[in-house]
Amino acid sequence: LKRNFSSTTTLNNIVKNVTVIGGGLMGSGIAQVSAQAGQNVTVVDVNPDVLKKTEASIQTSITRVAKKLHKDDTAAAKKFIEESLSRVKYSPDAQKAVEQADLVVEAIVENLDLKHDLFKRLDEAAPAKTLFASNTSSLSIGEIASVTKRKDRFGGLHFFNPVPVMRLLEVVRIPETTDDTYEAMMAWGKAIGKTCITCKDTPGFVVNRLLVPYMAEAMKMLERGDASAEDIDIAMKLGAGYPMGPFELADYTGLDTGLFIMDGWHKKFPDNELFNPPEIQRKLVKEGKLGRKTGEGYYKYT
Ligand code: CAA
Ligand code: NAD
Repeated sequence: LKRNFSSTTTLNNIVKNVTVIGGGLMGSGIAQVSAQAGQNVTVVDVNPDVLKKTEASIQTSITRVAKKLHKDDTAAAKKFIEESLSRVKYSPDAQKAVEQADLVVEAIVENLDLKHDLFKRLDEAAPAKTLFASNTSSLSIGEIASVTKRKDRFGGLHFFNPVPVMRLLEVVRIPETTDDTYEAMMAWGKAIGKTCITCKDTPGFVVNRLLVPYMAEAMKMLERGDASAEDIDIAMKLGAGYPMGPFELADYTGLDTGLFIMDGWHKKFPDNELFNPPEIQRKLVKEGKLGRKTGEGYYKYT
């Protein structure tokens, strides 16, 4: 059933205050796009040093966005930056930060036990009306939600890296997610400037379910010696119109992240050949070559 999500009244009534848990790569982007759209945002991270970096990275990224939005108007760009930044607060205390939240978006490390521990605490601390969402790349939303008493107000909100640039938001329903919750999440996604698609709670949702096996097959091509990493990347950029080839993308998202996703799926679904992790990726991860963030992965970065 197609629904109309154009109503900002729904959004204004339901989501004004957003708490983003995890101030890393994804959390900082989610906080930024929410603040840009006029939401009051609190970013939480267990690590106070991370919160300083979160603030700096939001500042850098929002400056790039402002330059694009207000090319010839420096005063308007300055106003946009200042107003957006003034809506973001930083806190090390997750329980306190959800007391006023309408929506909580979790973007902590990809670890089910840690997510369970967090959501149990948040469920106790947040008001009954608060909607909960996880930005997990590869875990089951239903399994994450299972430790809470609000599965009806739980969903997946899966963003893409870099969040301020990538226009897609995957909105994931579990069987218990009510229509009201789902509609509020769709409306919120639209209000923060994303195009929303809906997906069931299946491994990798839409994008990662297609992207991860595609990248794994590229790595297996390299292992077989069919073509070089450089030529496979050129092929997919010029022959299929992808902005990055599979090896550039693997280095960009992090080889450890990719391997972690594949290992998790392979363990859970051992008969699915598509989820078989390539040895070359395991070898590079063992050597500490995790991609751009460590200066080397499939490519070297100086
Ligand atoms: N914040 C704000 N703006 C940014 C930015 C950031 N972090 N990163 C890039 N930009 C802007 C730049 O300012 C630039 O703007 P203009 O066009 O106005 O100049 C624009 O984006 C393009 O950036 P660059 O010129 O630096 O580089 P590029 O053209 O190579 O684009 C890219 C960079 C957007 C990352 C592009 O290469 C791309 O789309 N790559 C594929 C990314 C992708 O597939 N992401 C999904 C990964 S999977 C995932 O995220 C899910 C998961 O669960 C793991
Ligand atoms: P990251 O490592 O950059 O950030 C995670 C942050 O969470 C860290 O700063 C860490 O200090 C903090 N943290 C850990 N435990 C915490 C807790 N209990 N409370 C508060 N903060 C805590 O990771 P990321 O790349 O931003 O990924 C975050 C989530 O988003 C993961 O679930 C990941 O699968 C998902 N995701 C990642 C990408 C990507 O391309 N990196 C894309 C989409 C979704």
